Amino acid sequence: MQPKRFAFVGTGGRAISFIEPLVTQYRVHNELVGLCDLSPTRMAYYNRKLAGPWGYHAVPAYPAADFDRMLRETKPDIVFVCSKDSTHHDYIVRALHAGCDVITEKPLTIDADKCRAILAAQEATGRRVRVAFNYRWGPFRTKVRELIAGGTIGRVHSVNLEYLLDTNHGADYFRRWHAHTAESGTLLVHKSTHHFDLVNWWLDAIPAQVFAFGDLVFYGRKNAEARGDGHLAAYPRYTGEPRAKADPFRLDLDKSEAFRGLYRDAEADSGYLRDRNVFRDDIDIYDQMSLNVRYRTGEVLTYSLIAYSPREGMRVTFNGDRGRIEYHEFIGTHMNRAVSPGEFTIEQKPGAEAEGEWIRVFPHFKPSYLVPLPPATGAHGGADEILCRSFFDPAAPADDPWGRFAGHEQGAASILVGIAARESIRQNRPINLADLVALRPAATRLQNLV
Ligand SMILES: NC(=O)c1ccc[n+]([C@@H]2O[C@H](COP(=O)([O-])OP(=O)(O)OC[C@H]3O[C@@H](n4cnc5c(N)ncnc54)[C@H](O)[C@@H]3O)[C@@H](O)[C@H]2O)c1
Repeated sequence: MQPKRFAFVGTGGRAISFIEPLVTQYRVHNELVGLCDLSPTRMAYYNRKLAGPWGYHAVPAYPAADFDRMLRETKPDIVFVCSKDSTHHDYIVRALHAGCDVITEKPLTIDADKCRAILAAQEATGRRVRVAFNYRWGPFRTKVRELIAGGTIGRVHSVNLEYLLDTNHGADYFRRWHAHTAESGTLLVHKSTHHFDLVNWWLDAIPAQVFAFGDLVFYGRKNAEARGDGHLAAYPRYTGEPRAKADPFRLDLDKSEAFRGLYRDAEADSGYLRDRNVFRDDIDIYDQMSLNVRYRTGEVLTYSLIAYSPREGMRVTFNGDRGRIEYHEFIGTHMNRAVSPGEFTIEQKPGAEAEGEWIRVFPHFKPSYLVPLPPATGAHGGADEILCRSFFDPAAPADDPWGRFAGHEQGAASILVGIAARESIRQNRPINLADLVALRPAATRLQNLV
C-alpha cells in the first residue's frame, strides 16, 4: 500500500500532537511531505525536531503565501489544517479544489459565510473533510455516548453542561489571537465547539435554535482596574518584564524550550506575541457565556462556560424519562504547552484539586450506581492517542461503532451553535440556525449528517 502523503498548514503548538505520531509511530503507512505557515522560524523548529529527536528528515517548508505551490509540488493526499481558526476555511477550500482530502482542527470555521464556502467547495469537489473533534474520542465520553444510546435512562429530554476553564488555561486564550472575535470567533466558537459537538453527538441530535448571553467580566483592563488589580495591567506582555515577577497570570516564554523555539524566536516573522497581558484593552471576546439550545428533535441544552475559574473541568447532567446520568470530569488544567503527546501532563494548581472523573446513573425508583470507567491515559483524557490512530493507522476500522468520525456537516452543526449564540447576544433575541446555514433541512439525527 502506498503511504498516505500529508501536508500541514499551521505549525504552532497544536500541530505537534499530530506531526510527531505521524512521523514516528505511524511512519510506515504515512509520509509528511510539506509544512506551510506564516512563520519560517516555527517551521524551522519543526524541521529541527523532524531531523533530530523524531528521527525523520526535514521536509520542504512553504511560506503561507505559497500554499498552492506546496500543493502542486508536494502532491499531498491529505491536507491537515492546524492554523489560526479564522484561516481554516481558506485552506480547506483551496485544498479541496486542488483534489486533496482535508483533516481540520476544530473549529471548522468561525462564521456562517465561511461555513457556506466550505460546504460549497466540498459539494463541488466530492472530497472528504474530517474535523479533529478529539473530545469525542476520550474513553469516558464515549462511555457516556454508549449509556445514552443504550437507553440507560430512556429518552433524554434535557442536558445541563457547565464548563469551567481555570485562570491558567482559561487565561491563555486572552493572551493571544483567541482574544479577538475576528480571529477565533470568540470562545463560543473556538472552545465551545467541542462542547456543542459532544452534546450533538451524545444525543444524536441537530441543534435548531439558540438564545444566549455573553459578557467580559474578568479579563481586560477595565475589569482589573474595577476590582483593584490595576497594577496587573501595567505592562503589555509578561516575558522579560521585571514588574510581572509575582503576577499569577504571567507566562514566561523563555522558560520552555518549545515556547522559545516556536514563539519567542519567531516574533519578528509575523508579530505574533504569545504572552500578551490578559488585562489589556483590545480584548473583544466574552469570558462568561450562558445559553439555551433547542434541538430539532425537541431536547433542550442549558450551557455555561466561564474562563476565570479557580478549577477546571465539566459537569454534565442528562435528564431522561427513565432517570438521570451525571458525568463529572475534573482533572486539572490542560493548557497547550506545545509539547509532544508523550510529555503531556495535567497541571494542578492550588484551589484546583481534582475530584477525577465519574459517571453515576440515577434510575427512577432504584438506587443510583457508579459506572465502571474504561482506562484512559495520555493527552486530553486519552483522546488524542485514539484520534491519531483513527487518522494514521490503516488498520483502524473505517466504520466506528460510536460514530466518532465527524465530517464537514457535523463540524458545521457544532460551530453554528456558537455563531448563533454570538448573533443572539448581539441582537438580544433567539436565533434559528437554519437562517444562518441550511444544513440538510429534512435531517433529524446527527448521524444523518456527514
Ligand atoms: N482539539 C484541541 O484540543 C486543540 C488544542 C489546541 C489547539 N487546537 C486548534 O489547533 C489550531 C492551532 O492552534 P495552536 O494552539 O497550535 O495555535 P498557535 O497560535 O500555536 O498556532 C497557530 C499557527 O497558525 C499560523 N498561522 C496564522 N495565520 C496563518 C495563515 N494565514 N496562514 C498560515 N498559517 C497561519 C501561525 O503562524 C501559527 O504557527 C487552532 O485551530 C486551534 O483551535 C485544538
